[in-house]
Amino acid sequence: MPVVDCRLPFVRKRMARSVGILLAIFCFLLGSAAADCNILKEKGKDGLQITLKNYCEAWRMNVELHNIRDFDVVPDECVSYMGKYMTSTQYRVDSERTIHESIVYLSTSCNLKKDGADAWIFDIDDTLLSTVPYYKKNGFGGKKLNLTSLEEWMSKGKAPALQHSLKLFNELKSRGVRIILVSSRMEHLRSATVDNLVNEGFFGWNILLLRGADDAHACKDIQGFKSDVRKQLISKGYRIWGILGDQWSSIEGLPSANRTFKLPNPLYYSA
Ligand SMILES: *[C@@H]1O[C@H](CO)[C@@H](O)[C@H](O)[C@H]1NC(C)=O
Ligand SMILES: *[C@@H]1O[C@H](CO)[C@@H](O)[C@H](O)[C@H]1NC(C)=O
Repeated sequence: MPVVDCRLPFVRKRMARSVGILLAIFCFLLGSAAADCNILKEKGKDGLQITLKNYCEAWRMNVELHNIRDFDVVPDECVSYMGKYMTSTQYRVDSERTIHESIVYLSTSCNLKKDGADAWIFDIDDTLLSTVPYYKKNGFGGKKLNLTSLEEWMSKGKAPALQHSLKLFNELKSRGVRIILVSSRMEHLRSATVDNLVNEGFFGWNILLLRGADDAHACKDIQGFKSDVRKQLISKGYRIWGILGDQWSSIEGLPSANRTFKLPNPLYYSA
């Protein structure tokens, strides 16, 4: 279990801290010079002293780098850190930077033909619409996903827009790029999804593809579903210039796009 592995360094660290405290008391009792005792101070691997914040930030970063995969839950000790990150200015700045880079690419490298075949793919959850309000009430990634309860929440259509993504969405629209939404949400959520998107300012997309309960995609993994969709789009003549998604399963797999852009999301992993 990857989660258990992730916790190991922390258990070691706690032990190291107890040893450190004992040594400090020992030094104090002996009355030796403080300088000598500093040497005995708790040290992590490679002589680094790490805090819980360092540990959790490293975990988050390695999720984004796709070194940590297939996790079911955020490690216990990092749940409150992830909650803080997902509601922080840093999360917004990180996301805005992703959008900025997408727009730079769009402005400098895409040779748009404006013939109706230039296309861009978006994820929905945590790319256009935020599920953070749901996760805020459900343990910020610290609890195993309950799909029934998540879908109940989605069916209310109250997910707020990610404003920076709306900016890219509108930029693409104004440049005549076809917007294709590909989501792992199931087909039964279509009308709630459409209402939610429109209420939040997303309209004028060209295709909205969800996973159908009775089609072959329903049983496929998400990455397989999304690469199949791209294959079909390309065979219909679309040029997929870019993908914006928050999950690696949205941007990995073949065929790909000319460029892919990943938004941060340390809360869950969809394979
Ligand atoms: C999952 O959510 C549903 C709907 O809210 C609830 O009825 C069910 O008990 C939950 N399941 C678990 C395992 O928590
Ligand atoms: C990227 O765009 C060029 C056209 O500018 C195209 O020839 C090439 O196949 C594209 N690459 C991918 C991976 O889509």
